[in-house]
Amino acid sequence: MKIAPSFLSCDFSKLGEELVRMDKAGADLIHLDVMDGHFVPNITFGAPVIKWGRPYTKLPFDVHLMISEPHRYIKDFAEAGADIITIHVECDSDIGETLDLINSYGIKAALSVKPNTPASAVFPYIDKLYMVLVMTVEPGFGGQSFMADMLPKVKEIKDYAKSVGHDIVIEADGGINEATIAQCSEAGIDISVSGTGVFKADDAAAAIADLKKLSK
Ligand code: DX5
Ligand code: ZN
Repeated sequence: MKIAPSFLSCDFSKLGEELVRMDKAGADLIHLDVMDGHFVPNITFGAPVIKWGRPYTKLPFDVHLMISEPHRYIKDFAEAGADIITIHVECDSDIGETLDLINSYGIKAALSVKPNTPASAVFPYIDKLYMVLVMTVEPGFGGQSFMADMLPKVKEIKDYAKSVGHDIVIEADGGINEATIAQCSEAGIDISVSGTGVFKADDAAAAIADLKKLSK
C-alpha cells in the first residue's frame, strides 16, 4: 500500500519543513487538498502554496481539487508542479474536457466520487483516467470517521476497468489510520491518504511504517 499524507493536517507555518519531514518519514506521495468554500464548506489553499512547497521534495504531488470549476485552474496547478490532479465528478466543469486538459499537460488525471455518488459515475470517463479517488468521508475536513460502506466501490471500479481493458489505480481518502487501513488493503485500494493519522502522530515515520505493516 502506498501512503499519501494529507497536507491539510500540516503546520502551515512550516510548510517546507513539513514536506521534508514527510519525505524522510517514508511517504510515497504528498496529498494536497484544495478547497474553495463553495464545492465544500471549507477553504484551504491554492496553486501558489503548492508552488512554494514544490522545491522541498521530489515526491509526487497528488492534488485533490474540491472546487466547483476546476477547468479554470488546471493550468495554474500544472505550472505549480502537480503530478496527479483529481477533480470531482460532482463539480460544475465539463468532466471529459477537464480530464483532457489535465492530460494535455502530461499530468495524471483522476476523478473522485463523494460518498453519495455511485461508482458507476466514473465509468464514462475511464479511458481518460490514471486513478479514481473513492472518498471514505464527506469531503471538507480532516479528522472524520471512516465510512467502510464505501469500500465495495473499489471492486466495482476495478471490475469495470478490467472489463474494458484499462489499468486503474484506486485511492481512498478520509478517516484512514491504523484501525481502518487493513480494510482498505483488503478492498484492493492502492493508495491510502492519511491526514491526522500521520501528521498528528508523535512519530510520523513510525505511523507510516505501521500503516504499511497493517496493509499489503
Ligand atoms: C477531506 C480531505 C482529506 C483529509 C483526510 O476532505 O480530502 O484528504 O485531509 O484527513 P483524515 O486522514 O484526517 O481523514
Ligand atoms: Zn483529499
